[in-house]
Amino acid sequence: MTTSEPDLAVQAPPTCHGGLENLDEEHNYWIDEIEGALPADLEGTFFRNGPGRQRIGGKPYGHWFDGDGMISCFTFKEGRAHFKNAYVRTPKYIDETEAQEVCYRGFGTQIPGGLRANFLKRTANPANTNTIFHGGHLLALNEGGQPWEVDPGTLETVGPFDYHGALSRTQVFSAHGKVHPSTGDYFNFGAGISGMGLRGPKACLFLYRISPEGKMVKQSHLPLDAFPFCHDFVITERYAVFFINSIIFDGMGSFLLGRRTISDVVRFDENRAMRIAVIDLDTLETVRNFECPPGAIIHFGNAFEEGDEVVLDGMYASDFDANAVLKDVFNPNGRFSGGTYNRYRLNLATGAISVDTLCGQESEFPTFNPAVTGSKHKVCYTACSVDNGANSFFNAFQSVSYDGDSTLVTLPPGTYGSEPLFAPAKNPKSEDDGYLLEVVYDGYTHKSELQIYRADNVNDLACTLRLRHHLPHQFHGHFSTEVFM
Ligand SMILES: [Fe+2]
Repeated sequence: MTTSEPDLAVQAPPTCHGGLENLDEEHNYWIDEIEGALPADLEGTFFRNGPGRQRIGGKPYGHWFDGDGMISCFTFKEGRAHFKNAYVRTPKYIDETEAQEVCYRGFGTQIPGGLRANFLKRTANPANTNTIFHGGHLLALNEGGQPWEVDPGTLETVGPFDYHGALSRTQVFSAHGKVHPSTGDYFNFGAGISGMGLRGPKACLFLYRISPEGKMVKQSHLPLDAFPFCHDFVITERYAVFFINSIIFDGMGSFLLGRRTISDVVRFDENRAMRIAVIDLDTLETVRNFECPPGAIIHFGNAFEEGDEVVLDGMYASDFDANAVLKDVFNPNGRFSGGTYNRYRLNLATGAISVDTLCGQESEFPTFNPAVTGSKHKVCYTACSVDNGANSFFNAFQSVSYDGDSTLVTLPPGTYGSEPLFAPAKNPKSEDDGYLLEVVYDGYTHKSELQIYRADNVNDLACTLRLRHHLPHQFHGHFSTEVFM
């Protein structure tokens, strides 16, 4: 080696930031680069959603939440795997593609032109957070708007979806609805305004129950004393549980006037207790409220009933410092991280509440086999941030037993993971009889791959499907046992 050559031994591994670059192309191909054997008992369709582009006209959006929704789809059929991806054709995507500049406000993005351009403008719905296939419809979801329907076979955008007029124009729909395993009902919610009071608009959570056939069969609303930052919830056999976090929107007037973004006015209020509302799934009415010290839980694991108690898992944070990273995603010093895996017990008879830290590993995006939603589970999975020499994003994942025993799988430095999602084997014999699907971005090659692990032994990497390109870091996904082609 001459003195002018870089010493590769001391070069830092690449960061996660290449995985935030745009994937403007839409692909459709059979995956032919496979390492290992694709499991014969894995069949179905794995949908992912996330911001496929984080820049328009070369300029970054003002927040990770504002990138345009792109559905990616891995289909497993007869021992082969197919990949395709397509953007959701929202007005934002169409207009900004044409103009090659920001045309709509976002969670943290302003339209160029100052106050005049942003005055009284609503934020756009980028349809970029999650997907669900329920009631015969594949939906792209973002909590700031209504669902967008996408054809599950072709990924062509069908259009906005309001449950045949059941969602009014101002009612939004969260990205984290839950399907009840016994009834097939799909429960979801959306933050909104239930009416006008003496002190202005009355904040609430709209609650929705949708039949297995995809019909909105019941609505209600949970009154709140302030506009909530509520992203996810849990269901048990009989209840839904919402945590109203200590994250508040402080100064929405300046947002409405066009001076600041929502991201600018969101903050953690260390004096605001978390309110916990337990809702009857049948009536959609409140059964009991609880209160616990200030905090924030963005994502939840599973929940179930045990005697008089509701037991639930959530990823706890004592602040919302993560927003600084989310609104400056290309900052090389930024580090995406997670929360603490807590378990809450809510006694519906006495009103007592207890909380324990189940697992000390910093992590986020908890998932589990959806078949055990609302009943006692054996295992949960999370994306983790560990110290492996390249710590800018999730770089590991873990399985966590019900009692909190962690099995951690650390990715090589310079490669970055995602929300691990469970896919059942055909005719599964147990809760964890199946696979853990993990999309990994390789910063060295600027390409992504799908790693398929045995869910009952996450150290067993069954197979790797290599894509011909990168896949921008996604938020969430959904596995359907149906094969859509
Ligand atoms: Fe989420």
